[in-house]
Amino acid sequence: MLAVSKKAGNLIGSEIIRLAGEINEKIKQGQTIHNFTIGDFNPSLFPIPEMLKERIIYHYQHNQTNYPPADGVAELRESVSEFLSHHGGLSYSAKDEIIIAAGARPVIYSIFQTIVDPGEKVIFPVPSWNNNHYTFLSNAQEIIIETSPEHNFMPSADDIRPHIQEAVLLALCSPLNPTGTVFKREQLEEICDMILAENRRREGKQKPLYLMYDQIYWLLTLGNTEHVDPVSLRPEMRNYTLFVDGISKGFAATGVRVGWSFGPAPVMQKMKSILGHIGAWAPRAEQLATADFLRNHQAVDEYLNWIREQAGIRLFGFYDGFKQLRAEGYQVDAIIPQGAIYLTVQFDLKGMRRPTGEILQGTDDIMTYLLSEAGFAIVPFFAFGSSRDSNWYRVSIGTCQTETIPTILHKIKNALSRLS
Ligand SMILES: Cc1ncc(COP(=O)(O)O)c(C=O)c1O
Repeated sequence: MLAVSKKAGNLIGSEIIRLAGEINEKIKQGQTIHNFTIGDFNPSLFPIPEMLKERIIYHYQHNQTNYPPADGVAELRESVSEFLSHHGGLSYSAKDEIIIAAGARPVIYSIFQTIVDPGEKVIFPVPSWNNNHYTFLSNAQEIIIETSPEHNFMPSADDIRPHIQEAVLLALCSPLNPTGTVFKREQLEEICDMILAENRRREGKQKPLYLMYDQIYWLLTLGNTEHVDPVSLRPEMRNYTLFVDGISKGFAATGVRVGWSFGPAPVMQKMKSILGHIGAWAPRAEQLATADFLRNHQAVDEYLNWIREQAGIRLFGFYDGFKQLRAEGYQVDAIIPQGAIYLTVQFDLKGMRRPTGEILQGTDDIMTYLLSEAGFAIVPFFAFGSSRDSNWYRVSIGTCQTETIPTILHKIKNALSRLS
């Protein structure tokens, strides 16, 4: 065995990617699997905006192939600044308050590296996406807050308050992966007020408590759902809020790798240095193309209207179907989808007996049963840090063909009706 660092040796891989690997294996063996595990899009169902694609090609054709600046090309920082003001009512300077990276992941990594010292505490709610890994990579200590379905799996100020004095970073996300639910205005206001009070208490004597606000799905809210952010609600939060954002989800451009952060200049400038050292820049041509695209309000609005509609059809197709199954007496439930590409579904099947006689002992058995009997592949919330016995699951619709939803629901109903 090769000797590696303790950090590398103790790293745990992503549960979701591991699960997806197992499922792909089944698909290769010829089984029909409706694979709704990975938080990505099938590009034939959800292609990136045509204009974005054309501009990427255009900029490569014009030899935009050398290093970009460490904080991103000026054109894109300016374009993002204008985009945030136009679509989000936020005012951030292209000069030193916005930095560009190769997607949201390096942004998150550099936020952790910039804020958190080894041994310090990071608070995050579960279920949530990958905060455990970034905390681990920073040699930090995690403070986990388990949220509940009654509150749409979003944390409240009261949940966080008991831990706040110990922490340097609070990691929040809305719309949330894996639940597809969002913060309500009052909920986030209370959290902001709590952070501001805590930072007044610390004033100068201690590093402030920062809020990482991951809004990578904010362009994908459904219907009348409102996206709220800390700085619009409480302008004083500007000093403490580090935003995570980019084109990966809103424009179905997960493989294009353009993301950004915005926040107080001193923090952004340190993140720029870290990103520079790891070279996690978005390619220059993609940056220039994104700058061109984001400036075209008509192309952006048309695409967003289309993708929101497409996501909504699928999410509500499943939601209505699960609610119908519940009305028919099956042990399933779902939470009304508000955004992102995820539906939260409950399969309360523990203790039920398969036709072959075995009892479903817990989350893993339920997942395997749905996979083998209905070809329905989804991710249990424990993969997002919830407790092992949580019976809630994430359905990710980015690979779903709308026409298949009735068939899939029918297969699920059949599988459920065979349990006793
Ligand atoms: C909440 C959240 N933040 C960030 C990311 C990473 O985005 P990117 O692909 O831009 O690195 C994801 C990807 O699934 C996500 O779900």
